[in-house]
Amino acid sequence: MRRRERGGPTLARSALVTLSHSFLSLAIAAAGGAAETNALKEIVPPGLLIGVAVNQDQSDGQDAAAIAIVKQHFNSISPENLLKWEAVHPEPDRYVLDPADRFVAFGRQNGMAVIGHVLLWHQQTPAWVFAGAGGALPDRETLLGRLRSHIETVVGRYRGRIHGWDVVNEAFEDDGTWRQTPWLKAIGPDYVERAFELAHAADPEAELYYNDYNLWKPEKRKAAIALVRRLHAQGLRVDAIGEQAHWGVADPPLAEIDAMLGDFAAAGMKVMLTELDMDVLPRDPEMWGADLSKKQQIRTATNIYTDGLPAEKQADLAKRYADVFALVLRHRKTVSRVTLWGVTDAQSWLHDFPIPGRVNYPLLWDREGRAKPAFHAVVEVLRTRGEVAPR
Ligand code: G3I
Repeated sequence: MRRRERGGPTLARSALVTLSHSFLSLAIAAAGGAAETNALKEIVPPGLLIGVAVNQDQSDGQDAAAIAIVKQHFNSISPENLLKWEAVHPEPDRYVLDPADRFVAFGRQNGMAVIGHVLLWHQQTPAWVFAGAGGALPDRETLLGRLRSHIETVVGRYRGRIHGWDVVNEAFEDDGTWRQTPWLKAIGPDYVERAFELAHAADPEAELYYNDYNLWKPEKRKAAIALVRRLHAQGLRVDAIGEQAHWGVADPPLAEIDAMLGDFAAAGMKVMLTELDMDVLPRDPEMWGADLSKKQQIRTATNIYTDGLPAEKQADLAKRYADVFALVLRHRKTVSRVTLWGVTDAQSWLHDFPIPGRVNYPLLWDREGRAKPAFHAVVEVLRTRGEVAPR
């Protein structure tokens, strides 16, 4: 299976770029000759962070091409996996923090807002955390004790150096009911409060977020807003809600995203798109519960761009990214950060989800690190509709 994207710019893109350049020359002349830049961090509106998730190779300095993109375009980084519980705290008395130290140092040396992801989740958490006597869950106090040590150690270590933490990830089902995780079952619904309380005590300066996916679905969004209201009513710090934004090229509809951002604004809450990417492959409603042989069949039927993403699909992806960034700009008083979940198409969890072993194209740079039409479309939107402030 070949993993490559088609090379040179299409005619349509060249025309778009030419148009954009002539517009720019005028804008630059009017602004007194400031140097032209396509660096995303230079052209987002003031106050909007633009971030990217990096993997350990990147924060360890082993992926020069991706690192160059990260440094040029982003003013915030998130760790794709290396700060998760299984990575930093694999056994009760053993912490592995060297990779996380290097990640935090990389971000700080480059003047970036470093995001901590994630303190409490039901996935990528080692089995010992949820182990009680005789194979049962631990009792409330035991699990709270484990959570306390974890948060005090990890948040405490980076006190003053991590800009904001995803404190709790994915507490709700799509219908707005509590997700039945070991955290909920062993502690009860106030596990969320306790996690925010502990995180704030360990680093009073750090921003704290509730992070979930599908918050464009009204029931789930309502549950998240109610949760944050409840936490605020108890005097707890919650700075923003994160919508992960693992989206498709057509789904969710823009109107739903617009409604989501509008509802957060009406609730007086900040929102972040914390894990933005766009799945370009077809989805099959049967793939979620499919057994292995069914998954194999679905893979064969849906892995349709193994030789590269056709130009018209590149254009659809570019339009989708442009539309989403345009919405972000419309809601710029509500949206405080947009983070892409990966640097280039070489690095995306979507090659293996929801069906392993497919070839996907969800990000702004291709596998060789070349900017895709989607990147140019985002630049265009930011330049023409954003408030470009001199920095
Ligand atoms: O580290 C092992 C490696 O030793 C092994 O050889 C390899 C074989 O599969 O697996 C490696 O672990 C993988 C890990 O990523 C590190 O690459 C896991 O299999 C894989 O499941 C894991 O996937 C991560 C996923 O979270 C786990 O749920 C993705 O990289 C990561 O992008 C994804 O991120 C999550 C966010 O944290 C929360 N929101 C949803 C998002 C997407 O699932």
